[in-house]
Order: sequence, then C-alpha cells, then structure tokens
Amino acid sequence: MINIDDFGIHEGISEIILTTLSPDGIPNAAPMGLHRKGKRLFARIYNSKTLDNILSKPAAAANITDDPVLFVQSALSDIEPERFEFVEGFPILKDVPGWLIFDCACKRGEKLSVVELSPVKGKIIEQKPKPVNRGFNAVIEAAIHATRYVSLKERKYLDCIEYYNTIVKKCGGAREKEAMRLLYELIEYQE
Ligand SMILES: Cc1cc2nc3c(=O)[nH]c(=O)nc-3n(C[C@H](O)[C@H](O)[C@H](O)COP(=O)(O)O)c2cc1C
Repeated sequence: MINIDDFGIHEGISEIILTTLSPDGIPNAAPMGLHRKGKRLFARIYNSKTLDNILSKPAAAANITDDPVLFVQSALSDIEPERFEFVEGFPILKDVPGWLIFDCACKRGEKLSVVELSPVKGKIIEQKPKPVNRGFNAVIEAAIHATRYVSLKERKYLDCIEYYNTIVKKCGGAREKEAMRLLYELIEYQE
C-alpha cells in the first residue's frame, strides 16, 4: 500500500517531472503540477507530448526532485534517452530522490485534459531536510514563464523571467545559476 504522504505529496500542487512513454518506446520528461485534493491525485495537462503519450499508454511517473537544471531542461528541451532507467518497462529519470508510477485515466478536453492518477508503485531513495531556497523557487517560476514565452513569444514573459533571475542571482546557488543560464540559452535570449 502506497502512502503518498511519505513522498511529501501534500494537499495543493506539487511540482514534479512527469515521465511517459511514446508508442515507439521513446521516454519523455516534462515538469507538471501534481494536484492533490484529499486522497485524489490528478494533473491538468495541455496538449503536449506528455498528453499524447498518456493517451496511447495510460501510465506516468512523478519524478520527485529538487534539481533546478532538470526542471529547466525537461521544460524546454528533450532529455536524452540515456538519462532514463526503466522500472518494470517504465521510464524513470536516473538519480532522482524518489518516484511514483501511476495508472492514468484521462478526461479529454479540447485544449486541457484532466488526468486522474492512481499510484501503483513508488520508491524513496533519499530523504533529507530541505530548507526553502528562494533561488530554487524563482527558477521554477522562471521556467513556467519560459514555457509560455516559447509558445506565445510575448514580452511580458521575458520581463517576469528577468525579475525571477534577480532573485536567483541574490539567493540561488551554483545549480540555480546554471539552470538560469540554460534557460536563457534554450529560449534564445541573451541577458
Ligand atoms: C514547474 C512547471 C510546471 C508545469 N506544470 C504544467 C502543468 O501542470 N500542465 C501542463 O500542461 N504544463 C505544465 N508545464 C509546462 C510543460 O512542462 C511544458 O509545456 C513542456 O514543454 C511540455 O513538454 P512535452 O511536450 O514534452 O510534454 C509546467 C512547466 C513548469 C516549468
């Protein structure tokens, strides 16, 4: 029996990296919000590779990580196949501190689909105290604006990224700064 509390998944939205498998067997990773309401878990997923994969194979894994670089890479580019390992035929990102594999049931919408998630297997590899770092949080916010920027190309998203970058510069460590460097590279915009 899986207790999702043990994985740090609380009421509200937890940001995780969702891995899925294409019909051709190619693994995919993208950050997604994991919603919890009571015992119910679900994701709200816009049309994307992740959604296509879930529609063809109704399974997904939440990779629980605090690596800001991984969030940026998986949001804005494809993660190389060698960075996945397979657990009972399903792709998980190597070196993440914890993961949960779900069976999925999709309520399809025109632009946005709601995917109900039922945990089937999980593993906690590493558990350590994690103080809040504003730099890490700012990378996550910047990455969300960056995914909007690449599809809509509106200046307001660049302004938001710039604002969060000032927090990363002040509060982040080397990994957060590397994540922001990569973010700017992937959106092809120089600071
Ligand atoms: C922290 C974070 C959370 C995100 N949450 C969601 C989400 O809940 N639903 C969604 O459709 N996209 C979400 N996104 C955007 C997707 O990750 C992004 O569109 C991604 O490029 C989709 O990749 P794919 O086409 O490989 O599935 C989020 C992005 C970030 C950075």
